[in-house]
Amino acid sequence: MWAQRMPSIRAIGIPIEQIIKGKSRNRVWLVLSVSFLFCFSLPYYQYSSSISSNNITATSPNDYPDSDSSKPRNLNYPYSIPNHNETHNRESNISMTASPPRVNEARRNFTDVSGGTTARVNRLSSMPICMNKKNGTDLKSKEDSCWGRYIYIHDLPNRFNNELLQNCRTLGSWVNFCPYVKNNGFGPQLKDSGGVISNKSWYRTDQFMLSVIFHNRMKKYECLTQNSSTASAIYVPFYAGLEIGRYLWGFNASVRDAAGLALVRWLREKPEWKALFGRDHFFVAGRINWDMRRDDNSVDWGSKLLNLPESKNMTMLTIESSPWARNDFAIPYPTYFHPLEENEVFEWQETVRRQERRYLFTFQGAPRPNMTYSIRNDLIDQCLVSRRHCNLVNCKTKSRICNDPVHVIRNFKNSVFCLQPPGDSFTRRSTFDSILAGCIPVFFHPGSTYIQYLWHFPKNYTKYSVFIPIDKVKNGSVSIDKVLSEIPKEYVLAMREEVIRLIPRISYARSKLRGIRDAFDISVKRILEIIEATRKKTREGKDPSNDFPEQKSWKYYLSGTTGKHEWDSYFET
Ligand SMILES: *[C@@H]1O[C@H](CO)[C@@H](O)[C@H](O)[C@H]1NC(C)=O
Ligand SMILES: *[C@@H]1O[C@H](CO)[C@@H](O)[C@H](O)[C@H]1NC(C)=O
Ligand SMILES: *[C@@H]1O[C@H](CO)[C@@H](O)[C@H](O)[C@H]1NC(C)=O
Ligand SMILES: *[C@@H]1O[C@H](CO)[C@@H](O)[C@H](O)[C@H]1NC(C)=O
Ligand SMILES: *[C@@H]1O[C@H](CO)[C@@H](O)[C@H](O)[C@H]1NC(C)=O
Ligand SMILES: *[C@@H]1O[C@H](CO)[C@@H](O)[C@H](O)[C@H]1NC(C)=O
Ligand SMILES: *[C@@H]1O[C@H](CO)[C@@H](O)[C@H](O)[C@H]1NC(C)=O
Ligand SMILES: *[C@@H]1O[C@H](CO)[C@@H](O)[C@H](O)[C@H]1NC(C)=O
Ligand SMILES: *[C@@H]1O[C@H](CO)[C@@H](O)[C@H](O)[C@H]1NC(C)=O
Ligand SMILES: *[C@@H]1O[C@H](CO)[C@@H](O)[C@H](O)[C@H]1NC(C)=O
Ligand SMILES: *[C@@H]1O[C@H](CO)[C@@H](O)[C@H](O)[C@H]1NC(C)=O
Repeated sequence: MWAQRMPSIRAIGIPIEQIIKGKSRNRVWLVLSVSFLFCFSLPYYQYSSSISSNNITATSPNDYPDSDSSKPRNLNYPYSIPNHNETHNRESNISMTASPPRVNEARRNFTDVSGGTTARVNRLSSMPICMNKKNGTDLKSKEDSCWGRYIYIHDLPNRFNNELLQNCRTLGSWVNFCPYVKNNGFGPQLKDSGGVISNKSWYRTDQFMLSVIFHNRMKKYECLTQNSSTASAIYVPFYAGLEIGRYLWGFNASVRDAAGLALVRWLREKPEWKALFGRDHFFVAGRINWDMRRDDNSVDWGSKLLNLPESKNMTMLTIESSPWARNDFAIPYPTYFHPLEENEVFEWQETVRRQERRYLFTFQGAPRPNMTYSIRNDLIDQCLVSRRHCNLVNCKTKSRICNDPVHVIRNFKNSVFCLQPPGDSFTRRSTFDSILAGCIPVFFHPGSTYIQYLWHFPKNYTKYSVFIPIDKVKNGSVSIDKVLSEIPKEYVLAMREEVIRLIPRISYARSKLRGIRDAFDISVKRILEIIEATRKKTREGKDPSNDFPEQKSWKYYLSGTTGKHEWDSYFET
């Protein structure tokens, strides 16, 4: 299924250089305003930093922007602002041209869209005003622990979600997705790992199943409401990534766009839409944004779902967001560990903490011979030179190992650092696999993580990762072995501890864990904050727009400003 991820340069029509170096975006400075005083203090978690008696700390709250604090919140949307001076993995050798996708006979009919309008819902006035809770006299939130957190799940026609799973054979041209939709989207359970992983809660999860996993978890969310007018957010359970995955290769634009257009047509007709023009809606698209961000004037790749005017009013979650777009946010790729109880998390954290690691660094991946900007060949060469320190798993020749979660975890558990270069796009699922194995990620481009998963990772990236600029690898002026060998041992241990703390934050648990937030909890909390901010602006009669140029979204979200940034050259347009 990795082959589904992204085609060769030729098939996609957009050289990776353009993505990596920054590509010319549609300069519509559409906006959703983002600065506001944070008065939306959620009575969310009784969160404590020492959640377990045996002295294992799952996360260290103060390092993370979403940690609760007894101090009054005064954050800027949607992240707290870092110090401004601060400075994917299923691989395949399948060539796109070798296996042309077959014409999909099972194409769905998206033209029949029903959607009646019933009573007009006015959430604008029915929602409680964002309250000043400084002295804790806010009765509404005291009586109702779900206040401000209610979510309404839109009852979409089956063709937007369940039918895709029922017709799982149509989801991939080369890969049979049917096993992967099992177990609520976690895929087949992993067993008999020879002690590499624990016997429970591990699955052969496909990287594109996020929307299914998210939906199933949302069904168990503790503050669902049947009454959309009491909801703080409207969840649209459209499996956008699975849907477009069927048509990325060999279909024309109208086929690729049909479902998205049908969806927004359906949504627009609903009373829920009319209340806030969809600004309180969100959906989860489990593919990289490039697969759904076609610009009518530019590349012929993917659908234009994320660029539709309706979508721009919604909040969209993807596994890789665009640096130049304001309304999509990246959340972790699903990896293989889906705990049911917090103890499983603590046990796994302890396992990787105690793990002896034979190699200094590991690179697992396939080269990208046709991408001149790719450094994967350079990494492979460096790894071969540093044989004693580096474990090379070349997925061009070892695709079986690269596709086997137990092998992947075993390799990453056996290494102190894991190299995470860009591949077909900025990000890799491998990043999350390595964190899960307690292997400190080494990044080469800030687009691979630092500007992506701002909700889930510490804002100070030096705490959990090593950054080696891609240009230095490309021009041969840096030895990765040398850089990594020279990092002091205490610092390596501190970084690994931070990586281990990230494990629950990047995992999608099977249900809510006690005392710790998983990737789902963190995402939901952030979405509610974003939507509340928009609602507040709208209620105040302001146009939720124009706070910053959309082109500079990455910078604004990262630092809270749009001035010069040391990473400008990575995202030049
Ligand atoms: C950032 O750096 C500038 C110049 O070096 C300095 O004047 C400023 O105080 C620094 N700001 C912070 C927040 O550290
Ligand atoms: C990768 O290529 C080798 C040799 O060409 C082939 O045997 C193998 O099946 C390929 N792997 C996949 C996943 O197609
Ligand atoms: C789509 O569905 C509608 C209603 O079921 C039907 O009238 C129409 O012919 C279908 N279109 C196609 C292209 O199958
Ligand atoms: C809390 O706020 C209410 C209403 O604004 C006020 O009457 C009350 O005196 C305040 N209580 C404290 C302890 O400040
Ligand atoms: C996992 O299961 C295997 C056999 O099913 C067993 O040998 C092994 O001890 C189990 N491991 C753990 C950690 O329970
Ligand atoms: C839904 O909530 C609104 C506002 O709280 C309330 O006025 C309305 O009666 C509720 N509708 C139903 C069907 O409960
Ligand atoms: C797109 O492809 C579909 C089916 O493959 C075909 O019916 C339609 O005419 C094509 N549209 C255009 C604009 O080429
Ligand atoms: C998007 O929201 C704005 C108000 O913020 C509204 O004027 C506009 O019509 C909405 N767009 C759509 C397609 O609903
Ligand atoms: C790279 O490009 C060459 C020449 O166009 C082509 O033959 C080869 O299949 C491509 N390799 C991959 C992995 O796409
Ligand atoms: C970031 O983390 C590193 C390592 O813990 C630390 O040395 C540095 O001072 C931190 N930077 C900031 C701005 O907090
Ligand atoms: C390599 O690239 C880096 C970063 O752009 C630059 O600082 C360095 O001077 C270059 N070294 C050589 C030998 O070209």
